[in-house]
Amino acid sequence: MIVCARASASRRAILTVPVLLPLLDAARAHAGDSDYKKFLGYSAAPDLYLGYGQKNDNRVADPPLYSFEYPADWTEEIPTKTEKSTMGMDGRVMHPSTRKELAYVVALGGKDYRDSVLKDARSSLIVFAGGDPDLRQAVTDGKVEQATKRVNGSDLFVFDIASDKRRYLSSIGKKGDTVFALVVTAPANAFERDYAGLKHIQDTFQLL
Ligand SMILES: *[C@@H]1O[C@H](CO)[C@@H](O)[C@H](O)[C@H]1NC(C)=O
Repeated sequence: MIVCARASASRRAILTVPVLLPLLDAARAHAGDSDYKKFLGYSAAPDLYLGYGQKNDNRVADPPLYSFEYPADWTEEIPTKTEKSTMGMDGRVMHPSTRKELAYVVALGGKDYRDSVLKDARSSLIVFAGGDPDLRQAVTDGKVEQATKRVNGSDLFVFDIASDKRRYLSSIGKKGDTVFALVVTAPANAFERDYAGLKHIQDTFQLL
């Protein structure tokens, strides 16, 4: 077998190229920025949203409205049409095996939000926490730290919310007629362990 492979050195040279490429990709995935993938959110209107995700949407020519980076080993879990229409869930990524560490973006637009101004961080947070009972309870009973941050031309309210059960990082901002809220969450023990990756999601979130 070995002799045979040596004998066809030129053929081997050609064959090794496609074999090497995935190896290089794998190597790169362990270095710096490649530990993360970029999520681009398009915030399709609920009546146009078909529940099979932005990537398959016919209107891919529309520019993305927000982005963030998430751990490369996480997977995208496309919100259902019901999640989209009832709570404005627009995009979601999660740890593929625990599924308890996740990040999602809620986008609420239209006439109710066109004239809304995000004056007060805490009340903005309570509006968005509405669809998630655990978050609502953490906001009420837990420890909430908040700050404001200007990211690429938009003011964001940023939060760190800790309850006994879970911890949440959230960023809320408005662009045009739409209010966007990112929520990154994990059970308290997993949060400690995976803090860097979870924080990276919040730190890279921006409205475009
Ligand atoms: C800032 O937002 C604009 C769109 O408003 C986008 O084109 C640009 O890439 C963003 N800048 C960075 C540094 O991501």
